[in-house]
Amino acid sequence: MAKFSWLKNPWKQSDWFETVAVAQERARKRLPKSVYGALVAGSEAGITVDDNLAAFRELGFAPHVAGLSEKRDMGTRVMGQDVAMPVLISPTGVQAVHPDGEVAVARAAAARGIAMGLSSFASKSIEDVAAANDKTFFQMYWVGSRDVLVQRMERARAAGAKGLIMTLDWSFSNGRDWGSPAIPERMSLDAMVKFAPEGIIRPKWLLDWARTGGVPDLTTPNLTPPGGDTPTFFGAYGEWMSTPLPTWEDVAWLREQWGDAPFMLKGVMRVDDAKRAVDAGVTAISVSNHGGNNLDGTPAPIRALPAIAEAVGNDIEVLLDGGIRRGSDVVKAVALGADAVMIGRAYLWGLAANGQAGVENVLDILGGGIGSALLGLGRDSIHDLTPGDVVVPPGFRRDLGVE
Ligand SMILES: Cc1cc2nc3c(=O)[nH]c(=O)nc-3n(C[C@H](O)[C@H](O)[C@H](O)COP(=O)(O)O)c2cc1C
Repeated sequence: MAKFSWLKNPWKQSDWFETVAVAQERARKRLPKSVYGALVAGSEAGITVDDNLAAFRELGFAPHVAGLSEKRDMGTRVMGQDVAMPVLISPTGVQAVHPDGEVAVARAAAARGIAMGLSSFASKSIEDVAAANDKTFFQMYWVGSRDVLVQRMERARAAGAKGLIMTLDWSFSNGRDWGSPAIPERMSLDAMVKFAPEGIIRPKWLLDWARTGGVPDLTTPNLTPPGGDTPTFFGAYGEWMSTPLPTWEDVAWLREQWGDAPFMLKGVMRVDDAKRAVDAGVTAISVSNHGGNNLDGTPAPIRALPAIAEAVGNDIEVLLDGGIRRGSDVVKAVALGADAVMIGRAYLWGLAANGQAGVENVLDILGGGIGSALLGLGRDSIHDLTPGDVVVPPGFRRDLGVE
């Protein structure tokens, strides 16, 4: 066999991909249908998930042609951390994408000098993820009693989390016109038999898991009670559904428990809510509709961003997430008032396509795209971008919650 080792498969596809869309296509081919469907997500008619992408396409640029800058400075500071570009990993509670899961994402983010957001519904523990990236923020929903919330938050702090992200925009919507993927409660023998046909036709994915000697266990290690069992994804979801909904006083209380460390409220879409977030003492908000997975009909965050940034941009950091697939999207968001953006599906496609290297590949695509847009616009720094760099068509903005 060794004497044929020079014989390489000339048709073998390179693992590198050139755009996020190509990574998504690779993910579609590599993942079992139900796992891919869980990442596509969206809700109801998919109006919001579609608008998140469509809105970026409606925006244009006003480029210069000569006298351009050799320098293209992308570094910034977000939530108390210096980052190489204004892009953060948005927390996603997903399972079974890749055996290295969020640890691979955290390593890729660290390798590219950016911060990591870890979902409390993630498949890897905050201890492992914070060890892989010292710029890790832990994300929580309002799940469980105040004592339980504090216990989870203190665990994250002890593990080295540098900031807390509170996500409050979940609306428990159910049903998608294109159907929701069937996801087992646990990987029992029954479930393995039921899902085996999906896995068998995805040999690369199966091989990745076989190499680690396991199957996805579909649990939420960051929600394990002290001395108790780790809840399953659905068990944790049940606890969430039965938790009374938080008030603005609860938000201020949680922020106080976290002390002086950076605190982000994720999911803000309205100017009045952004102002209340300032009153609650947050460090940052993310203008977000949860990637279109919630209340369908909510407009794209990029439409709501300008009014929110104008109202509170001098008081707190304003981030945006939803629909970022290119470096030029990042530049559009920053020009319209965001301090930075967070990405969700973009890195999930990279992770599915090629593990840690795939996430690095996605971050390189975004970095390259930011550089190219800065060059075209004649800006030597992301900090010099202004709304005038972007062509905003009439009727684009949605100024929500403006008195
Ligand atoms: C599959 C999936 C799971 C998600 N899980 C979480 C989560 O656990 N916590 C959270 O705050 N946001 C979650 N989000 C929302 C993302 O953090 C982010 O807001 C969204 O993905 C941004 O949109 P994009 O995917 O177009 O970049 C999830 C998104 C997706 C697609």
